[in-house]
Amino acid sequence: MTRATLDKQPHEVAAMFDDVAARYDLMNDVLSLGQSRLWRTAVARAVAARPGERVLDLAAGTGTSSLPFAAAGATVVPCDFSLGMLLEGKRRRPELALTAGDATRLPFADDAFDAVTISFGLRNVQDPDAALREMLRVTRPGGRVVVCEFSRPTWAPFRTVYTEYLMRALPPVARTVSSNPAAYVYLAESIRSWPDQAGLAARLQRAGWSRVAWRNLTGGVVALHRGTKP
Ligand SMILES: C[S@@+](CC[C@H](N)C(=O)[O-])C[C@H]1O[C@@H](n2cnc3c(N)ncnc32)[C@H](O)[C@@H]1O
Repeated sequence: MTRATLDKQPHEVAAMFDDVAARYDLMNDVLSLGQSRLWRTAVARAVAARPGERVLDLAAGTGTSSLPFAAAGATVVPCDFSLGMLLEGKRRRPELALTAGDATRLPFADDAFDAVTISFGLRNVQDPDAALREMLRVTRPGGRVVVCEFSRPTWAPFRTVYTEYLMRALPPVARTVSSNPAAYVYLAESIRSWPDQAGLAARLQRAGWSRVAWRNLTGGVVALHRGTKP
């Protein structure tokens, strides 16, 4: 079983997701205590894809995060570098144009998309700043980005309870449900070492995105960051 470490070697990250692909969506529902569905609805609203628009869903995994954009009538390109996740997605959703690609070297032309989004992916990319610059490159001027990622709960008492959940409850629950429990130790560690809301906003700005803002979901367990390509 493969478990990535915090240096996020791309071959280890991809292999870890290959391992969990078959039960990935089930685990999401269980471990997020059902919240993941609400988070996906919020992402769809923030992206606000319109019929005919081209949307890149980066680190799309099995394509679950891409479905709302297809449902809105957009042309969605789900892209990921784990072949295991892509194959599981292809088996379940043959209609999606699942595409293999690395977030830091995207196989797309400049200005190709109206909107680019990434859900629970950026934290796993070894060089997230390079990915944010690539996302900017493939977005048309005036186009938008939406990043959905775990963040920092804003209310201190809740933050304490949540951190306890991450470090103590999540790994044993994962041991009983997951095909690769070690992957969920990585999940907890990677969430704890990820920048908070203001930190990620600053990184988006540094990558060249303008009008950067964020919105907290579930008290800041997750944050949605938005930006526009100047
Ligand atoms: C937690 S899953 C998220 C999947 C999906 N977006 C969702 O919301 O369910 C993270 C995904 O990021 C992908 N990933 C990590 N680093 C990547 C990179 N450099 N390029 C492309 N995909 C990457 C992994 O393969 C994995 O499928």
